[in-house]
Amino acid sequence: MRKPGREALEFSATGSCNDIWACPTASLFGFWLSHIIWFACALIAPGVGHTVGVPVQMREQRAVTGAPALSLPSVKGRIGKRSYAERVRGGTLERVVLAFRAVVGDDGVSLGATVREQHGKDESMHSCRAPDVVVWPRSVEEVSALAKICHHHRLPIIPFGTGTGLEGGVCAMKGGVCFSLRKMDRVLDPHQEDFDVTVEPGVTRKTLNTYLRDTGLWFPVDPGADASLCGMAATSASGTNAVRYGTMRENVLNLEVVLADGTIFHTAGTGRRSRKTSAGYNLTNLFVGSEGTLGVLTKATLRLYGVPETVVSAVCSFPSVQAAVDSTVNVLQAGIPIARMEFLDDVMIDACNRYSTLSYPVSPTLFLEFHGSERSLEEQVSITEEITRGNGGSDFSWARDAETRARLWKARHDAWYAALALRPGCKAYSTDVCVPISHLPQIIVETKEDLTKNHLTGPIAGHVGDGNFHCLMVLDPHDADEVQRVHHFTERLARRALALDGTCTGEHGVGLGKRALLREEMGPLAMEVMQGLKATLDPKNLMNPGKVL
Ligand SMILES: *[C@@H]1O[C@H](CO)[C@@H](O)[C@H](O)[C@H]1NC(C)=O
Repeated sequence: MRKPGREALEFSATGSCNDIWACPTASLFGFWLSHIIWFACALIAPGVGHTVGVPVQMREQRAVTGAPALSLPSVKGRIGKRSYAERVRGGTLERVVLAFRAVVGDDGVSLGATVREQHGKDESMHSCRAPDVVVWPRSVEEVSALAKICHHHRLPIIPFGTGTGLEGGVCAMKGGVCFSLRKMDRVLDPHQEDFDVTVEPGVTRKTLNTYLRDTGLWFPVDPGADASLCGMAATSASGTNAVRYGTMRENVLNLEVVLADGTIFHTAGTGRRSRKTSAGYNLTNLFVGSEGTLGVLTKATLRLYGVPETVVSAVCSFPSVQAAVDSTVNVLQAGIPIARMEFLDDVMIDACNRYSTLSYPVSPTLFLEFHGSERSLEEQVSITEEITRGNGGSDFSWARDAETRARLWKARHDAWYAALALRPGCKAYSTDVCVPISHLPQIIVETKEDLTKNHLTGPIAGHVGDGNFHCLMVLDPHDADEVQRVHHFTERLARRALALDGTCTGEHGVGLGKRALLREEMGPLAMEVMQGLKATLDPKNLMNPGKVL
């Protein structure tokens, strides 16, 4: 791997749009202009950047307080000898586009405004910033060749899967080149007897499961959207099945990665796919959740599971949030391998009732799903019923046949639309925090009080078995005051989660909006370690700049 170079460009110290709720739309002109502005800023404020020529090694220092401090090279770097202004005059973009066309053909490159806009935004409220160019590589070799061109010209690289992210991860903060990976869509090497498969980055989870249909295997991680699997790995996604099958973190065995300089490597070694290993550092885990800031994921080797013989679902309502959470804890303590355990608060269930014409009681509710053989399900279900009854839960409302089950889960999956329907014409924004389960009742009760006090609409839905929940904020995007109130509410919510030993994001990622919160969550030492890793793998700060760190 490369040593950190000297000519690293500082992408985040100047001119960055920190207020995610009010970011200007990009234009090509804006792109170059902003580059010139940073250059100017770098000249007048030389202290902003640091050289990263220091070899990566951790030096332990004794700080005045006696606490050990880590000293790692900073990601920030000094601007290169040739300025962007000079390179604009030299017609860099035209030359770069010609070079891209030589790699991916004319139809593999687009400068069209609409295409660029589409590739600069996801499903979040973060304002869009379009990349300058979109490219569609067809193979890892092409990704590598394109990356080399970007590296040479010091252009940001933003990997793009399906654009279904929720934290602005694909927003081209500094312009640059969007790598749309849609055309790399092959499923490779299915190993049925080993329960693993390798996919290219354009393969979505639904495509994979359709592909696997006749094998008796499936990939269970389900974030709701039909996201690309490499995109899900990049954000460490999860969803409703995680309580039983884990998140992307538990289900990626190996990744093929293209680094910013075009180097191709495999995080667990080429072709490795053993279920366990104690060989060396876990680099796969480093890239899971790296949100495109360390490299482009071009292949993922995933764990698969046997399709359960029988599935049954049930709905149960509770007198209080505490009773619902207590039941969850008891079910987990009893060792029941529950597959899904979704919490909906009274506001959410009311919205679902209206939207999906259902008639569940308007009180805290659990949607449950059990996977297993007929025999094992009988036992799982009867123990669970005993537990919920003991906590004051209602009788189960059952869904055994596929149709009723689909109807039930559709109601849960439509929660987003149900929430939106509470205030027609408004937009929805989903928050995402996660705490140790025992702190769930406290944080949910406090959050509901906060919502009421600030006159906000935010039904709550949560993957309660993981301590992860969302407030689906429904707001009028044209009401500046409400937008501000939601913004402040989401920060208070994240801080409440941090105060309760939790995290500011359980499954959406840090992206643009949670960078400050990440610093609070990690503390300065862990942040320095992360920055050191970033500087080693991407010394010029070209990979998805302005995100995560
Ligand atoms: C390494 O990390 C990956 C991805 O998070 C995970 O699936 C795998 O189990 C880890 N391997 C070990 C040996 O811990």
